[in-house]
Formats: sequence, structure tokens, C-alpha cells
Amino acid sequence: MTLSKLPYKGTRDLFPSEKRVQNFLFEKMHTTAQLFGYEPYDGPLLEEVDLYRAKSGEELVNEQIYRFIDRGEREVAIRPEMTPTLARMVAQINREAPRPIRWYAIPNLMRYERPQKGRLREHWQFNVDIFGGKENLAEFEIFSLAITLLQSFGANASHFEILVNHRKLVDCLLKDKMKLSDEVALKLCKLLDRYKKLPEAAFLEQLNVFNLSKDQEGLFLEYLKLNSFENLQLFLDAHQIGSAVWDFKTFFQMAKEFELTSYLHYDPTIVRGLDYYTGIVFEIFDKHPDNRRALCGGGAYDRLLEIFGEKPLPGVGLGLGDVTLKDFLQSHGLLPDMSRPTNDILLTFQLDGGMAPTMRLAQALRAQGVRVLTTLEALKLNKIFPLAEKRGAKCVSILDDQELIANKVAIKNLKTAQQVTFDLHDLGAITKFIMD
Ligand code: HAM
Repeated sequence: MTLSKLPYKGTRDLFPSEKRVQNFLFEKMHTTAQLFGYEPYDGPLLEEVDLYRAKSGEELVNEQIYRFIDRGEREVAIRPEMTPTLARMVAQINREAPRPIRWYAIPNLMRYERPQKGRLREHWQFNVDIFGGKENLAEFEIFSLAITLLQSFGANASHFEILVNHRKLVDCLLKDKMKLSDEVALKLCKLLDRYKKLPEAAFLEQLNVFNLSKDQEGLFLEYLKLNSFENLQLFLDAHQIGSAVWDFKTFFQMAKEFELTSYLHYDPTIVRGLDYYTGIVFEIFDKHPDNRRALCGGGAYDRLLEIFGEKPLPGVGLGLGDVTLKDFLQSHGLLPDMSRPTNDILLTFQLDGGMAPTMRLAQALRAQGVRVLTTLEALKLNKIFPLAEKRGAKCVSILDDQELIANKVAIKNLKTAQQVTFDLHDLGAITKFIMD
């Protein structure tokens, strides 16, 4: 029997050209998180299923988790998200850790989903979370961090928007104002979550199933039409939904003070599929008409630590996936060409006698931080330049016999075509020429 060469459905083999792109995304994530003072953490690939059962929600646990029984009869899951692991870890150090706790990670996660554009069974997800931060300030720090990250790729408010809602507002609307039971409210919430994915007629058809009274339906449809913070303010006033539900005035004021109003938009259909959110919820949406999807989701959760017997500690965070981020950057032409590797110099020799001095020079240059690629055999001149091009070398040098005798090396910069001959031992000058 011959085996398939393809990876497991919905997962990727990351060949060097793809891994280069992923590393490029990861580097920006590391840099941005550290610019905001977030510390890296990591956790295990496997967790007990109960960890997700506690607060993540039925869809994730019943439909998306990869689970198995281990040899010790434990019910184990491959992590489908990082937040429960993070909460578990924070619960261990909660009592002694100085506030706020700011952590980030880039774990790979697995969810049993139907593979399609922007959705795979394995993805890497940039997670940034802050615990014990002041309400609103913590949320705005997370927004700023996400915006800074996307700006570092050259994106701006014409490329993406942050769609915001508040879980308590949705709860208040469905349970207090529309008088729905917890169970029906949850189902309607799930339908809201799917609003953007469903054609209008299909949405209304599914709404009909709820048999809402005229008043209930009227209120719900009025809510669904809200499309700006200004409209929302009028709606909140008209229905006497006050600051105990959502201190919207402070939120809106801060959006102005942080100069984020061009990025932040109110969207009544943002409710988020995960059950633990209790406050602000948001998704970052691509504005490109061919890629209208979320590349990031997050929100505030007050009570996640309680499942570990700890006092509530408010947290806010986000998850931003590598697959959706790459699609986003590609759809706006913001992904640089990384089809070739990058090396500073291809160092080679024409006759076998040149091998040892070449390797010595290569090592000396590496010690200076120069990325040096060597050939493992003598090469003819006509082979060297195409090879340098393929391997993304900025400079090239071929030690020939004459140079060896004279202790010299000629180095050519392939971009500028400038060629300079150096003394073999003048490492400072050689390094400067290559790295300039
Ligand atoms: P989430 O909305 O499930 O949130 O995922 C966040 C992001 O991860 C999505 O917007 C998307 O970019 C990416 N993502 C999720 N599932 C897939 C998939 N199957 N394939 C490709 N990309 C995917 C969470 O996971 C929360 N735990 C985030 C969070 C952190 N909330 C607070 N802190």
C-alpha cells in the first residue's frame, strides 16, 4: 500500500516558502506584544475536555473539539483555543502576581471545522490578554495593540474595522426587554452570530421559528438596524438601558480620546460564539469586498477564574489567526514577496584548494552576524550567479586561486553590481560592505 503524500485534511505542510511568511507574521506579533509590555507564555497542546466544557460553549465542545481517551482513561482534547489554558495558568499565580497581568502566546490550535477559505482544522493564533486592568482602559489597550500590529504591515482604517458590541447589552435586550428565557435567548444569540453568514431571507426564516410576538420582533429588528454609535445611543436612551448594562458614554468618550473612532464601529450582530465573554466583544473585519471575514476576535471576560475556585479577575483579550491574517494581507497587496529565502552572501570557490579558506572566511563572517551560504563543492562561474539568485543572496564571492595566493577576496553586491576586492583578513570592511 502506498500512503498519501498529503497532510491530514484541513492542516498544512509548511514548506520553507510558507514558513517564511508565517515567521514574518510571528515576528511582527512578538515585536508588537513586547512594545506594549506583554510577556510571552506557553501551555500544553493537550488539556482535559472539562476545561472547555466549563465555559467555552456547546458548539466548541460538541462539534469542534478533537478528543480522545488517553491510556489513563482521561478524556483529553487537543487545544481548540488558548483562553481556558491561560485562565488555568493565571489561576495558579493569581494571588502573588502584580497587576495587571499582560501575557501573549502564539499557539497552534485544532478545531474540527469544514475546511474553507479562512477556516482550517489547524491554525496558529496570536493571543494577547490582560488581567486585572481597569475597565475600558484594558479594552482600549487591546484595541490599540491590534491596530498597531496591523499598521506594522502597512494596513490602516481603509483596510479593516473593529466591530464592537457588549454582551450585557445583548443579554439585557433578549432577557429583560424581550422577556425570553435563558434557553431561547441563547438560541437567538447563536442566530445573531450567524447573521452575516446567512442570506437575509434565510435569516428571517430562521427567526420565524422563534415565534416572537409582534412587540418582541419589532424590538429585535429595531436593534438589528443599529449601525453606528450615534444610533446606539438613541436606542439605549429610548429603551432606558443605562450605564449599569454598558457604560457606553465612557466607552465612546475614550474612543474619541484614543483617536480610534475611524477604526471602531458598532455592530449589533457581534456576540461571539464563546460563552465566557461578559463585557465588550469585538471582531476585526477585513473591509476588502472579496474577503469580508473576521481576522480577529476577542472580548472581556470577568468570571473565567472562578471555575478554578479563584475570586473573579476581569480579563480582556483577543485571538488573531495566521490564516486569516495572511488572507487579509494578501487581499490588500500588503504581503511582501517571500518566495525566495534571504541570505547576505553566497561564498564559494572554483577549485578544491579554495574549500578550507572559504569555510574559514564563512565562519568568521557568521561570527559577525552575516548570514553566509556556502556551496559544498567547487562551482563553475556560470553556475554561481543563478544559484545566488535562487537562494536570495545579496552578495556573492568566488575565491579563485589568484586571490588565495594574494590573500584577497572579491565581493560583488548583486543589487548594485558594485564589486570590491578586500584583504581576506579585513573582516570589518568585508562585513560593512555586505551589510550596508
Ligand atoms: P475565536 O473567535 O474563536 O476566538 O478565534 C479568534 C480568531 O482565530 C478568528 O477571528 C480567526 O482569525 C482565527 N480562527 C479561529 N478558528 C479558526 C480556524 N478554524 N481556522 C483558521 N483561523 C481560525 C478565540 O479563540 C478566543 N479564545 C480569543 C480570545 C483570546 N479571547 C480572549 N482572549
